[in-house]
Amino acid sequence: RVWRPLVRRQETNLTPASLPLFQQRLEQQLTLLLDARKSSSPELCPAMAYSLLLGGKRVRPYLVYQCGQLLGASLADLDGPAMAIEMLHTYSLIHDDLPAMDNDDLRRGKPTCHKAFDEATAILAGDALQALAFEVLSSHPYQHLAAERQVQMMRALASAAGAAGMCGGQAIDLAQTNQQISLARLEQMHRLKTGALIECSVKLAYYCSPLQDEQILHHLTTFAGALGLAFQVQDDILDIEGDTLTLGKPQGSDLRANKATYPALLGLDGARAKADQLHQQALRALDSLPFETTELRAFAHYIIARTF
Ligand code: IPE
Ligand code: IPE
Ligand code: MG
Ligand code: MG
Ligand code: MG
Repeated sequence: RVWRPLVRRQETNLTPASLPLFQQRLEQQLTLLLDARKSSSPELCPAMAYSLLLGGKRVRPYLVYQCGQLLGASLADLDGPAMAIEMLHTYSLIHDDLPAMDNDDLRRGKPTCHKAFDEATAILAGDALQALAFEVLSSHPYQHLAAERQVQMMRALASAAGAAGMCGGQAIDLAQTNQQISLARLEQMHRLKTGALIECSVKLAYYCSPLQDEQILHHLTTFAGALGLAFQVQDDILDIEGDTLTLGKPQGSDLRANKATYPALLGLDGARAKADQLHQQALRALDSLPFETTELRAFAHYIIARTF
């Protein structure tokens, strides 16, 4: 098989200026890393590379690079956490698509990992990507980073990934399918299954930087928390309003599975109002930061206005 990146779907008037640059940087880094390791498992590496390299908006790595740079980290150091968070996220997508979870056939415009390979390979490729995320985070050749900050990055990623983060949120998602859900529980589910990794991206940026200022970490986390929830609200909206070709994943998947979503609970207008309210919250958190945040403002708008 020949792996070719997808032609990137363009949203020129929406895309924040540095998103394509960081997407490119991340993809170069990932390609080099996977190339160097491809002989480690001829069974798993093609499936890992397939899911990791073929498309994806790379919004979590974008936050690592963009926030990290604002806080004074070097791009070379940020490559480590940027790769790690995208590996963790990609693993979550591979498992999310499995028959035991959402049972979807299309991801990032291609057959899902278990369709392109097989179910057992997809499970193991996800497992291996999760392990690789921690390996990369802990063995990246950082130039300017104290060991203690590296440990804090690993702790942040572990807790965002686990039962109190992404996995815990996915478990609520499965438990609530075909069930009545309260708004509070829906918010908790979304904050965990999607918000946790988005929040983690800004924490990684902070710990990868020389800055020691809990207030700044707090405002950044508030920004990313609001944005992370808004991101999943928009994902729920796109499941209804989007089209499969643009989304690169099956439109209507939530409806077919009778999932608990914002539009299901509040209607489309209610869901849009929620996304707008979170957008404003995110912008207010940015107001508290003593940095030039124009680019992050553009990014916040992109999150709720995107079409895939
Ligand atoms: C999809 O994430 C799953 C959610 C957490 C909503 P993305 O929308 O970031 O997917 P990619 O990485 O761009 O494919
Ligand atoms: C998934 O939410 C969140 C993850 C942790 C992967 P969804 O199930 O709505 O994500 P999509 O729509 O399949 O990308
Ligand atoms: Mg799901
Ligand atoms: Mg899904
Ligand atoms: Mg979805």
